[in-house]
Amino acid sequence: MTQSTPLQLIDSFNRRIDYVRLSVTDRCDFRCTYCMAEEMTFLPRSKVLSLEEIARIARVFVQLGVAKLRVTGGEPLVRRDVTTLFQELGSLRSEDGLKELAVTTNGSQLVRFAPALRAAGVTTLNVSLDTLDAARFRALTRTGTLEDVIAGIDAAREQDFPRIRINAVVLRGSNEGDIRPLLDFALNRGLDIAFIEEMPLGQVNLAGKPLEYLPSDTILSEVKQHYNLNSEATPEHSGPARYWRVDGSSSRMGLISPHSNNFCASCNRLRVTAEGQLLLCLGNEHSISLRDLLRDGASDFELSSAIVAALNDKPEQHVFDQPDQPQIMRFMNASGG
Ligand code: GTP
Ligand code: 5AD
Ligand code: SF4
Repeated sequence: MTQSTPLQLIDSFNRRIDYVRLSVTDRCDFRCTYCMAEEMTFLPRSKVLSLEEIARIARVFVQLGVAKLRVTGGEPLVRRDVTTLFQELGSLRSEDGLKELAVTTNGSQLVRFAPALRAAGVTTLNVSLDTLDAARFRALTRTGTLEDVIAGIDAAREQDFPRIRINAVVLRGSNEGDIRPLLDFALNRGLDIAFIEEMPLGQVNLAGKPLEYLPSDTILSEVKQHYNLNSEATPEHSGPARYWRVDGSSSRMGLISPHSNNFCASCNRLRVTAEGQLLLCLGNEHSISLRDLLRDGASDFELSSAIVAALNDKPEQHVFDQPDQPQIMRFMNASGG
């Protein structure tokens, strides 16, 4: 490849990549049962990308045509000085470059961070909230406090983000009863909401029986008993959710169905883990180390070329429904979801 070849992010299945998820830490103040084991060993700091390294990778991706960046974790807002990263990423926004700067957060730190995120140019917030019952919230997150997250969501609403979505992972025999209260919570606050089928990543539940996802169709039938839904086009640059507009409201309901509705044919994304692995698919292990390239002194062109070359190995699809074992041994906090 020569310097004059225009580099493009198109994989071998002709999917154009315009969306990158950057995990800025594997740490989190919660220990959600479907995401982590109770006792976790986190990465040593020397292995984690510096904020400057993350910003450089982001810049290279935007030069390659990426229009949306989503910052994830663990919990991104527990990373020290993360506001400076958001300011750097916000400065990449432009009409024909980076259009959307998004964050996925557990909401615990939003009271403190919402104004700074908005000021830095964050456009989209996804906040995890699986139940409105304080005791169940504690049981599901192991360490979280419901009222902090609700206060965080309300603080974010005051900042006029163009889009805030609640993320709820729904587990059979656990928070099924929360579907309607959560939908009402979102409707009353003018927020979007996505109900998610749990994915088997990492050995989260060595001691117990496997957690069981609730199929999206079951959720759809339940919701349809109480609300009129009109199907909606997927927003630009967005991912796996299918959306419906809830009649008479400004809210959209989304369903993310990695088991029951494979969305891989339209996959538009790559991930970078906190330790700088470029992960080609959430549900497969294919990756290359951007950290090694950076720390070996690669130029921006060499980084871009390595990313483009790696795309040849982006798998066609994830396969989650294997009996017995989780197919992917990495925990969800390691990849940022
Ligand atoms: P948008 O940027 O609006 O599309 O949000 P999103 O739904 O992709 O992001 P979010 O971080 O809120 O993740 C919601 C759920 O979707 C989580 O359970 C993610 O693990 C899951 N998810 C996101 N991208 C992928 C993907 O490429 N493959 C699979 N299987 N799941 C994904
Ligand atoms: N399956 C599906 N979604 C998950 N999340 C965390 N772990 C899982 C899992 N095993 C969700 C979180 C958050 C997003 C990043 O991913 O609830 O909203
Ligand atoms: Fe933390 Fe999010 Fe994982 Fe929960 S799902 S433990 S909030 S990273």
